[in-house]
Amino acid sequence: MSTAPDVRLHHARWTDVAALAELETRLFPDDAWSEASWWAELAARPRREYLVLEVGGRVAGYGGLDHGGEVTDVMTVAVAPEERGRGLGGMLVGELERAARGRGAEHLMLEVRADNGAALGLYEGRGFTTVSRRRGYYQPGSVDALVMRKSLSTKGAHDG
Ligand SMILES: CC(C)(COP(=O)(O)OP(=O)(O)OC[C@H]1O[C@@H](n2cnc3c(N)ncnc32)[C@H](O)[C@@H]1OP(=O)(O)O)[C@@H](O)C(=O)NCCC(=O)NCCS
Repeated sequence: MSTAPDVRLHHARWTDVAALAELETRLFPDDAWSEASWWAELAARPRREYLVLEVGGRVAGYGGLDHGGEVTDVMTVAVAPEERGRGLGGMLVGELERAARGRGAEHLMLEVRADNGAALGLYEGRGFTTVSRRRGYYQPGSVDALVMRKSLSTKGAHDG
């Protein structure tokens, strides 16, 4: 990748599982994916696809997809707090889009908490639009989920 010389992106490997689970625990202490969850996700390839971001040789982010044919779902996107705000989240989403296109998907879909300003800014900036709202979806706290979509086909650029 061209973002910075110390940034690398690769497809997730079994040897990444411990670092992925550790970062997940740091980012989502209440409902982190365990090592077992990551093993199950990687075992579900090629339907699932995970990209790992390394900065200076350390795992600093990841993004994942569920390829379902016409529609690909974004499973997760995350960047370590100390590496945020330098375009890495945008780079990950761009690479996920490229991977979805590569499998022939027409739409990329995701769910995001309505109170997650950083993620909303990231997705809206990359052309995702909100197509529905699931009220009180995230518990506790009863926070709405926004379902967002991006058309990947050039001729469908106006179908939101
Ligand atoms: C969302 C997340 C991946 C963004 O990563 P990042 O590397 O900081 O993102 P980028 O630097 O590429 O920023 C891309 C855009 O996101 C938006 N953004 C990023 N941080 C933001 C913030 N704190 N507040 C508002 N918008 C923000 C901006 O629109 C930004 O575009 P800009 O640089 O042109 O202003 C990161 O904050 C994260 O890992 N959060 C926790 C996990 C999470 O919520 N994942 C999404 C689940 S759906």
